Amino acid sequence: MTTDLLFHHIDELLTGGDQGVLYDASVAFAGGRVRWVGPSASAPVARQIVDCHGLVGLPGLVDCHTHALFAGSRAEEFQRRLAGASYTEILEAGGGILSTVKATRAADLERLRSLLHRRLEAMLAVGVTSVEVKTGYGLNPATEQRMLEAMISTGSPVEVLPTFLGAHAVPAEYRGRREDYVEQVIRQQLPRCAPLARFVDVYCDRGAFTLDEARAILEAGVAHGLIPRIHAEQVAHTGAAAMAAGLGATSADHLEQLDDAGVAAMARHGTVAVLLPGAMLYLKDPPPPVAALRAAGVPMAVSTDFNPGSSPVRDLWTCATLACLRMGLRVDEALLGITRNAGRALGRDDLGWIGPGSSADLVLLAPPPGEPAELAVLVQYLGGHRAHHLVKAGRWLIRDGVRQDALAAGAGGGE
Ligand code: NIG
Ligand code: FE
Repeated sequence: MTTDLLFHHIDELLTGGDQGVLYDASVAFAGGRVRWVGPSASAPVARQIVDCHGLVGLPGLVDCHTHALFAGSRAEEFQRRLAGASYTEILEAGGGILSTVKATRAADLERLRSLLHRRLEAMLAVGVTSVEVKTGYGLNPATEQRMLEAMISTGSPVEVLPTFLGAHAVPAEYRGRREDYVEQVIRQQLPRCAPLARFVDVYCDRGAFTLDEARAILEAGVAHGLIPRIHAEQVAHTGAAAMAAGLGATSADHLEQLDDAGVAAMARHGTVAVLLPGAMLYLKDPPPPVAALRAAGVPMAVSTDFNPGSSPVRDLWTCATLACLRMGLRVDEALLGITRNAGRALGRDDLGWIGPGSSADLVLLAPPPGEPAELAVLVQYLGGHRAHHLVKAGRWLIRDGVRQDALAAGAGGGE
């Protein structure tokens, strides 16, 4: 077998699949697909060979929960929170999410597209190749739809998986009329947005939407062909995780207040627990019940929850480290949390692992200066890692640390 492009002698490779972790490993691409993964000693012949001594490899990272599309700034709110104001108080006074809604409604499609494109480039630079992005800063049919249109037309090589989150907050014009707003979400927003989205999500919590409202919205989303997911059990225990698991949700996210019954329901339905240490840090939340999730065999993913309010964190590597330090994950769990289990949270069997049949996303990184090329070092150090080589869907997008022109980079790494 002759292949196009061989990444050869990778010091340590997380395959994210059945091959686990390999040492002195190689990955071969042909025709824009992964053809072979294994020990370098038995690597196939290749037209082009890239020496990867001193580098570690992983499947392209998957950020499975973000609000990366927003306009405006919340720096002033950040300072108010440092001075003692609470996240919920600020939201109830018309700030927080609602201030981002104001700015996002005022942004046209081109502006939204450009904001998201620039953020995706920053995520790509650290090794992220697939990103879930939520709506929820429009909160009316036209802006929710425009957010989705921006997501599916960024022109970025980073794959965006769009989520409809019309039930993120009650907009100012519906203040005191939450039931009417839920009605609008179901009757007006969903029919326009569902054809552009993959998931339906609801922020179900004290101060947000109730369990019954969340169920009604998720069921309506499912009827439109969307996959349910949920913001659950963050501020108060509501039973939302178990409810969503029963509806076939691929994930329940946050989970700081999850109880044993919720853990058991998630285990029973194979629902992924998405852990969001950025929000936990900024909102000073307690940790989710990681030991119980682990004991019950619930797969755990780790994500940034990147948004301008509760988690202004873009770096997925930083979140992997915080999940270990503040939530009690092991290094191997954190690494699977930003790869394979994040792919599972998105209901995508081809994401987060590297081998024949995968999405053909590979990232190679150098350790910090003076450190050995070991995967654990990248979790030990807090963020700041940059991709040295990166292949997305078989296209070589970062080469020797330099972003290649997306249009010029040919499939299979041809010159
Ligand atoms: O996941 N929980 C609600 N939504 C976001 C916060 C969004 C914002 O503050 O703008 C979250 O934490
Ligand atoms: Fe979120």
